Amino acid sequence: MRKPFIIANWKMHKNIQESVEFIKQIRECLPQAGVEEVGIAAQAVALANMKQMVQGANLQIIAQNAASELVGPYTGEISVRCLADAGASYVMLGHLERRRLFHEDNETINQKVLTALATGLTPIICTDDKMVQAEINGEIHYIFDQLKGVFDGVAPDQLKKIVLSYEPSWAVGSSQTANPLVAQKGCSRIREMIAAVYGQRLADQVRILYGGSVNPQNIAAIMANPDVDGVLIGRASLQADHFLEMVNWQQ
Ligand code: G3H
Repeated sequence: MRKPFIIANWKMHKNIQESVEFIKQIRECLPQAGVEEVGIAAQAVALANMKQMVQGANLQIIAQNAASELVGPYTGEISVRCLADAGASYVMLGHLERRRLFHEDNETINQKVLTALATGLTPIICTDDKMVQAEINGEIHYIFDQLKGVFDGVAPDQLKKIVLSYEPSWAVGSSQTANPLVAQKGCSRIREMIAAVYGQRLADQVRILYGGSVNPQNIAAIMANPDVDGVLIGRASLQADHFLEMVNWQQ
């Protein structure tokens, strides 16, 4: 049984004080850890302050990115060691905006995944439609070649812990409402691709989230899909009441 995982990705929107205030507002209203996992991905400098505010609530603190190297002369980079020290339990890697705006490729993301795993931080590997599908002779085909590169060197017992997300590029930060069928199709294709390499048993254990224009109105329909194990929410997660509505989508 895969536990649902609802994640707010604040991107570069909240400062430290706003991040802390948000946690104060929601921490008493979060579901039990046995029912669902909840997390917030925030700017690295806010993570330690946020962690102090969690106070036993069911809330994971998540980093939005990390350096590919563990330690060394990399001015301006942030290591997974520091992120773990600050209280992060997960690190998002390869988000569409990292790929699109900062030109991160599969090789870099793969290196980051291996570094995170080596230090005990669990990667949330983000994939998008460009990584998992291609148009061939006017038809959409799902491809594993690009996705595969991200998993190079990841052992089966490490894969079990990893979380994946599928975010179609046209739905991220756009006004196009996420379609539950698209969410299901993307997530199920990724699961099939994982099964082809690691076997069905392992593929059935990996959580795959959907991201792209999720909001309080469409979350229940998206979560109703059998292969969608959670969501990665951008804009709609910035307001505490909206985030709580989505976290409590089962009620
Ligand atoms: O990580 C979140 C995604 O980029 C989705 O962002 O909900 O604003 O479309 P959005």
